[in-house]
Amino acid sequence: MAATPIPGPHVDGDGLADIVAAGGLHNYQLKLHAEYGPVVLFRLPGAETAVSIADPVLLEATAKLDERPRKLFEFLASMQESGNLQTIPAQEHTPWRRVLLSVLAGRPSHEAHFGRFVTLTRELADEWADAAACGPIASQQSLSALSLRMICDYALGSGIGSPEQAGRIVAAFEDVLTEQLGRLYAAEAPGTYEEREDRAQRALTYLRATVDDVLATHRVGDGQPSEGSDLIAALAAAGHSPPRIRDSVLMTMLAAHHTTGVAVSWTLYLLALHPDAADRVAEELVRVLGDRPAPDYADLKHLTYLTTVLEESMRLYPPGPYGAREVTEDLRVGEYTIPAGATIFYPIWAVHTNPEYWPDPTVFRPERFATHPSPERPRLAYIPFGFGPRSCEGASLAMVEAKLILAVLAKRFRFEPADDHPVIPVERFVLWAADDIHLNLTQRRMLDT
Ligand code: HEM
Repeated sequence: MAATPIPGPHVDGDGLADIVAAGGLHNYQLKLHAEYGPVVLFRLPGAETAVSIADPVLLEATAKLDERPRKLFEFLASMQESGNLQTIPAQEHTPWRRVLLSVLAGRPSHEAHFGRFVTLTRELADEWADAAACGPIASQQSLSALSLRMICDYALGSGIGSPEQAGRIVAAFEDVLTEQLGRLYAAEAPGTYEEREDRAQRALTYLRATVDDVLATHRVGDGQPSEGSDLIAALAAAGHSPPRIRDSVLMTMLAAHHTTGVAVSWTLYLLALHPDAADRVAEELVRVLGDRPAPDYADLKHLTYLTTVLEESMRLYPPGPYGAREVTEDLRVGEYTIPAGATIFYPIWAVHTNPEYWPDPTVFRPERFATHPSPERPRLAYIPFGFGPRSCEGASLAMVEAKLILAVLAKRFRFEPADDHPVIPVERFVLWAADDIHLNLTQRRMLDT
């Protein structure tokens, strides 16, 4: 039987003009899927033959794919010396992934580092309490810096000294990504090409120097064993080369900080917009923690409503809004055959708002996650951490960090969106708010809750 042609628009050029005309990639995805159905052939810069799949049942056919399209992730290549870790071939990736999971996914090690996470989070809450007197808090930047300090402490054994240093690193990653993605998507940006190139280069040099400092502490490359860093020690023990270890450190710092940072800042934003839900979270925190300002590790599993709020927030604002795989041999998806060499595009944000599985998809309703996973929803209807052999290695750690941070902040403060500061989602490598999310905060009194 002849394969059914995959529906999709006629696109001139690399597809960029259509994406811009639709008001961004997410709007474009929504438009394409509304018009052509759950499987759509389209184009985007870096992928001439891209197939977007917005139906979670059909996505199952792609769950074993183990290669990422090289060109689409080219924007990260400048940060890597030993080959782009996002796109290394499966036979190199699988043992690397195993090492990462052995360090990042273990409950005992989450528990062992939890006390330090609490200290860092409470320091941030104190800073916010002081700063709130002077005006709204720029939550996204501040929470990304906190997440960066957590991952450095956890996996790299190197405390990034101060919040200011963490802030500089977050800004440096931003500068590099803005420039690289700007080139791919021909985005308008302030300054001449040379000025932007210069800024990106300086940022990259700073990031490399920071990683070198971490590695110097661990004496990687001089044949000595690494001390203090679980991740570096595990990669060295598994025989990974010094450049690959260096790349892994940089990639872990990148992948861990802005994702977890925006997950928490979007959640606080939603709580600010929904004071009833915020009060319910605070009530739960008082019930579970009593007078204590922060949870113990064992408390997290009792924070069931808070968890549903976080899950619903990552449905509405998935920190990683897209994923992609490369098809290495023809692949059958429903009635279609996707040809070898094509890019499968995972429109995570559109999957999370597919009305077939998420009624009133744009409404914030944490109760959707009261039972999760739910027998009424296909497994892949909710994929904030991707899925399959290239899914996020930091997923369980991220949930621990995010729940802890939310617990400390939501117990102590009430949040309100700052006036005159629009919150505009921008899709980049992560789903970021342009010009941050500014929140006013006031202290909660125990009696309030
Ligand atoms: C809320 C926080 C986070 C979210 C929503 C998130 C989401 C994602 C997504 C969507 C992907 C792509 C998955 C795919 O292609 O199927 C990914 C990949 C990745 N994430 Fe995360 N992530 C988070 C936190 C973290 C943390 C804390 C770490 C490390 C400690 C981390 C490390 C990675 C790595 C290394 C990859 C590349 C996976 C690979 O190619 O094998 N992420 N993440």
